This record gives sequence, structure tokens and C-alpha cells, in this order.
Amino acid sequence: DKPWTVPALLEAKRAGRKLAMLTCYDAGFARAFDAAGIDLILVGDSLGMVVQGRDSTLPVTVADMAYHTACVARGLRRALLLADLPFQADATPERALDASTALLQAGAAMVKLEGAGPKLETIRFLAEREIPVCAHLGLTPQSVLRLGGYKVQGREEAAAAKLRADARAVAEAGASLLVLECVPGALAAAITADLPIPTIGIGAGPHCDGQVLVLHDMLGLNTGHRRPRFVKDFLAEGGSVAGAARAYAEAVREGRFPDAAHSYE
Ligand code: KIV
Ligand code: NA
Repeated sequence: DKPWTVPALLEAKRAGRKLAMLTCYDAGFARAFDAAGIDLILVGDSLGMVVQGRDSTLPVTVADMAYHTACVARGLRRALLLADLPFQADATPERALDASTALLQAGAAMVKLEGAGPKLETIRFLAEREIPVCAHLGLTPQSVLRLGGYKVQGREEAAAAKLRADARAVAEAGASLLVLECVPGALAAAITADLPIPTIGIGAGPHCDGQVLVLHDMLGLNTGHRRPRFVKDFLAEGGSVAGAARAYAEAVREGRFPDAAHSYE
């Protein structure tokens, strides 16, 4: 298979080909996931929790992200590499441009940032400067202090309407991809139908254009943090790290993961 490109992601959506994404933080797992056919690899700021052992993603720095992005990039041949802009690195368009440049120079092909509203200007600024952007809506972990915890978003009618409008807005601002985290399955399905760009769900039901899981969660490693219902241990059925990644990719492509037991309504 040839390496993924940003235009190929849009083509995949049009063709109805589901995308399998995992988070990853080092070269060894990157090599295994790439060989197992994982399409998209995300160096998530979740590394603050699962690698650094912190209580939230807020302490993660651009230097942390660039270090892990460079490690992961060395393990990839085919998967498209995304890296998170950490807390407040996207607070202004100029800061976001500097941080994104560092992440792209470390080997990422796309940066991800949380939210809409004031972030729309940042998305537009980056997209106009040749930096592919993945938006992230729903439960945005960098909002944990305001939200008071990690909870399902968009359950009330007004919140659902706002999420749907935000999703249209990030796509119009130039985002190439949208992660939807912890939203009711029907809302994620409506957003997926609204947008020309692929949606990647995590706790967002089975109707997104792709799925993402945190590496530690898909291997059943309990990191002492939240164990939400959308998590599935693929090591049990896969038998090895490579087998787990293959089982996950196949289940996503065939629409077998997530099922109702791993979704919210
Ligand atoms: O940081 C992360 O791992 C993420 C995914 C859960 C989408 O943002
Ligand atoms: Na993240």
C-alpha cells in the first residue's frame, strides 16, 4: 500500500472506506502499528497521562510533543502522522504557527487542536499557511477545568445544535479532519453526514468515518485513569501487539467496532 496523504483521506470518505487511528508515543509501537495497517497515527497530548503519569493533559509542552513526534515518525512508512497542539499552544494564530512548524519539522503531516469559537481563526490561519489541521470537538480534555471532569457532551438539544454548528464551522475554516470525542452516536452520525471531511470518533458511536483509541486502552493496560465504556481491549483477541492492532483495524473497517455497548445514546 502507498503512504497516506491528506487528499487521500477525503477520497476515503467519498469511497466509504473507514479509517483506523491509534495514538502512539514511540518508534517501536509506531513500526508495529504501521505494519499492521493502521491508517492514521496520533501523537496525542494524552501522553501527559499515559506516558508521564499526570492527572490531565494540561502540563504537556510543545517540546514534549516534538520529542515524541520525532520518535514516532522514525517508525512510520505508510501511516499519516498527526500531532496534538498542547494546552495553549493554539491560543493565538502566531503561537499555533510556531508550534505547528516544530511538529511538522519533527515529522507530523497534520496538527490537531481542540475547540471552535476563537480557535476558528487559528484553524484558518494554519490551513492558509500549508499546515493541515485536524479539529477536535465534543469532550475536549484541555477544557477539563471548565467542564469539571470528563463527561459526555452534546446530550441536551441546545448543546447538540451548537456542536453541529461548530463542526460545520471548523470544516469551513479549513480543517481536513475532525475528531469527535464522547458525543451521542446519533449526533456524531448527523455531523458525519453534514461534512465533506472525515470524522474520527472516540466514544462517538459507529457512524463516524473512522475511529481512534489510545494505545494503552486498546492493549488493556490500566493506567489508573478513566476507563470509559468506549474502551476495548484488543490484546485479548489479537494475542500480540501486532495482532491487537490488526484486529482493531479490521473491526473498524468492517464496522464491528464500536458497537452499541461501546457507544453513548
Ligand atoms: O490525546 C489524545 O490521545 C487524543 C485522542 C484521544 C483523540 O486527543
Ligand atoms: Na489530545
